Amino acid sequence: MIVVTCLAPVNIAVIKYWGKRDEQLILPINDSISATLSTDQMNAKTTVMISPNFEKDLLFFFREESCMSPRVQVCLKEIRKRASENLKGKKNNQGIDLWKAHICSENNFPTAAGLASSSAGYACLVTALAKAYNVEGDCSSIARLGSGSACRSVFGGFVRWHKGNQGDGSDSIATQIVPASHWPSIRILILVVNDARKKVGSTSGMQRSVETSQLLQHRASHVVPQRTEQILKAIKNHDFETFAEITMKDSNQLHSVCLDTYPPAVYMNDVSHTIVEFVHSYNKIKGTTKLAYTFDAGPNACLFLQEEDVAEVVATIKQVFPPTNENNYIRGIKVPEKILDKDLV
Ligand code: DP6
Repeated sequence: MIVVTCLAPVNIAVIKYWGKRDEQLILPINDSISATLSTDQMNAKTTVMISPNFEKDLLFFFREESCMSPRVQVCLKEIRKRASENLKGKKNNQGIDLWKAHICSENNFPTAAGLASSSAGYACLVTALAKAYNVEGDCSSIARLGSGSACRSVFGGFVRWHKGNQGDGSDSIATQIVPASHWPSIRILILVVNDARKKVGSTSGMQRSVETSQLLQHRASHVVPQRTEQILKAIKNHDFETFAEITMKDSNQLHSVCLDTYPPAVYMNDVSHTIVEFVHSYNKIKGTTKLAYTFDAGPNACLFLQEEDVAEVVATIKQVFPPTNENNYIRGIKVPEKILDKDLV
């Protein structure tokens, strides 16, 4: 029996992935860029056991047996295919590609609440499977088959997912732009507004956007290509102001696309909008861009800032949005519940 346990981090996109050109192969309509968080506070953990004695593949999520979703099955199939290619012609070939797998997965943060749980989950699953079946080489394209954004969690630092041009998806892979050490002062605060499961999942939300939003077509062909080049330059030059401005504009455009979708997909709530206002006011008072927000398919905010500003920003957030519980409202508005302070991997 071979047993492998892996941890994988969440990544937060600053140029968002929203929309597929191929639903099966999970091929996006535009490139995206993200920052990978360190695994200390938010991670997915997966243990994979493979054995010639197992009769079937099994999946346990939080120790409860769950059904193998088609996406998990696709990842497993692809890993076995690569394992069998590796083993061809090798002596001592025990045929491990045929061994069945028992997979145990869990996250230490809310699942499907717009906190990128699927990105960490599938990156972790694929990395653990690859280690167990002795598959080497790029795993981002296999993680992509589980969940698009997962391909970016395979690397640390700042990461780009290239949309690729090939119909088979062979060039739709993630690559590291720079390691975290390139910009060690960058920090991310996560303001947990609501950790309930979202009503419209990313997969169906973006599918609906592809079908109905004209703004999405414009975004993919006319906005993202320039923004990608600009933010790459800002990351390389440690230019926080440009990085922050593009990050906020791209988040705003994602949510504009979601509203341009018919019927609309609404992810941000009143508290999310209050956070947006807070960030712009904070930057105005400081006379420079100290903070940037970004929101995925949920109301929770991710704020990018630099280490030297963390203490003051956290103190200000605690004043403006005093910590509360589910039943506590301030001026009719529910406030962020938790603040998580993250380093990049
Ligand atoms: C808003 O990767 O969850 O977080 O590929 O259908 O599994 P599927 O979608 P998913 O979408 C994430 C969308 C996003 C933006 C991003 O992470 O780039």
